[in-house]
Amino acid sequence: MKILVTGANGMLGQDLVPVLKNAGHNVLETDIHNLDITDKDQVSKYILTNKPELIIHAAAYTNVDGAETETEKAFLINQTGTENIALISGNLNIPIVYISTDYVFDGQKSSPYLPDDGTKPINVYGYSKLMGEETVKELNSKYFIVRTSWLYGHKGKNFVETMINLARTKPELRVVEDQVGCPTWTVALSEAILNLIHNEKYGIYHVCGSGSTSWYGFATKILEFMNIDIPVIPVTSEEFKTAAKRPKYSIMDNGGLCPDWKESLKKYIELRGE
Ligand SMILES: NC(=O)c1ccc[n+]([C@@H]2O[C@H](COP(=O)([O-])OP(=O)(O)OC[C@H]3O[C@@H](n4cnc5c(N)ncnc54)[C@H](OP(=O)(O)O)[C@@H]3O)[C@@H](O)[C@H]2O)c1
Repeated sequence: MKILVTGANGMLGQDLVPVLKNAGHNVLETDIHNLDITDKDQVSKYILTNKPELIIHAAAYTNVDGAETETEKAFLINQTGTENIALISGNLNIPIVYISTDYVFDGQKSSPYLPDDGTKPINVYGYSKLMGEETVKELNSKYFIVRTSWLYGHKGKNFVETMINLARTKPELRVVEDQVGCPTWTVALSEAILNLIHNEKYGIYHVCGSGSTSWYGFATKILEFMNIDIPVIPVTSEEFKTAAKRPKYSIMDNGGLCPDWKESLKKYIELRGE
């Protein structure tokens, strides 16, 4: 199948493209340099010319704290950019996979979020991504909305690499314990997307690692798998003030679509080498 990937140079995009290619798909790799999703004419022209059979829309404004001040930019990319893709794909009957986030929820639940649960973002990034979801649903009936969370991949700045770097330079780590969620490896997410697109069961999916942990629990496992032995101190989010609020409870029910988060982390650490 001919698949257009937006945001192909991003952390997810760079791990997703090889998974799609290895499965025999013909991938049109695009990012801001050759397909700026905020440029409606460029988007229409590109899609009309290249005629993809499916679009995986991974391009986004992803700076969660930055979005609190760069609000317009976040909405331009995550809402208007998504609208441009959804409009033309809807008109041409091309299915779309929109990558979304656990941050569409407010974190007030105490049992795993289900795809149909009510949304209520508590930060600008989450709100802009939710507007992206809404526009996709409105403009293209053939949609997969794939909400993922706590993503780490081989080609991007991420929590796992940050923890490893800090652990090598600091005597101890202080990590937030009062936010819980589901760490997700980009490769596991990519494989789950591959399985989803092979059927036509459109709708909203939660695709994150199975099980859950806190950032503290995540950091502890990273160091354990890396054989780095330094103290990890649990702290509250009050100690780590950020511009954007984060949901305290971000656990999503993934319906078994992804392996256990610890299993994936182990594989990531084995593959990353040194
Ligand atoms: N990272 C996470 O923890 C996480 C969690 C939940 C959901 N998600 C979602 O997963 C998807 C992939 O995230 P990621 O971590 O791979 O993000 P990323 O590394 O920031 O990748 C996003 C890509 O989109 C590109 N982009 C930005 N503006 C664009 C535009 N106007 N036109 C075309 N491309 C543009 C970026 O280019 P530049 O780098 O040049 O700006 C970047 O290559 C996103 O939809 C994100 O919202 C991520």
